[in-house]
Amino acid sequence: MDLSKNRKFFELAINQEKQLDFERIFHNNNEIHLEIGSGRGEFIERISTMYSIINFLGIDLKEKRIKTILRKLDTKNHSNVRLAKIYIDENVTKWIPESSIEKIYLMFPDPWPKKKHNRRRLINANFLNALNKILKVNGLIEITTDHQNYAEWIIDIFKERENFKAVFQNGFTHKIQPNHIETHFEIKKREEGFAPIFMNYLKVREL
Ligand SMILES: C[S@@+](CC[C@H](N)C(=O)[O-])C[C@H]1O[C@@H](n2cnc3c(N)ncnc32)[C@H](O)[C@@H]1O
Repeated sequence: MDLSKNRKFFELAINQEKQLDFERIFHNNNEIHLEIGSGRGEFIERISTMYSIINFLGIDLKEKRIKTILRKLDTKNHSNVRLAKIYIDENVTKWIPESSIEKIYLMFPDPWPKKKHNRRRLINANFLNALNKILKVNGLIEITTDHQNYAEWIIDIFKERENFKAVFQNGFTHKIQPNHIETHFEIKKREEGFAPIFMNYLKVREL
């Protein structure tokens, strides 16, 4: 498959010093949903066809993953999708405009299970400050992990945030929600015997 045509259409070149103009990119002002760590792209491929009036931006740091996702997309059925190959961190506020995102998906972020590596976890206080900035009021952050300790870490970080409300009692659920889309990692982890832990947080107001 010749990916160059798809690449030209779907891939955004990120300039870390310049804010994206979503209206110019998607040629409309529909909602923007951001998927962080799109992996092999099962989620963004399917959800974008289920909700064609929503624009989806998928981010992954790995070239290999971007190529895999590009193979799943076509310009006719996924015109509401864009991808960016970038290592996302708290500097995301430099290229994603403030209050421009309605929903952020973070499915199976790397858990960095060893205690000495915990500080490499993507979800930390600084990163959450940045996500808070790009997310609209009434916007949602949906996080899934199979890793109990990472789930507890995430729940503790959100407990410090007065402007985020946990959607599920005690901060999490194992229950599959309507229109759920399984990702590669969810299937893999279920096969290994780990049930996903779902944590959704609603931004109820600005700080
Ligand atoms: C464990 S995989 C999960 C992939 C997918 N969400 C799933 O559920 O199958 C984590 C993905 O996040 C990407 N990733 C990790 N840290 C990232 C970062 N800081 N910025 C962008 N992508 C990142 C990795 O390249 C990988 O594809």
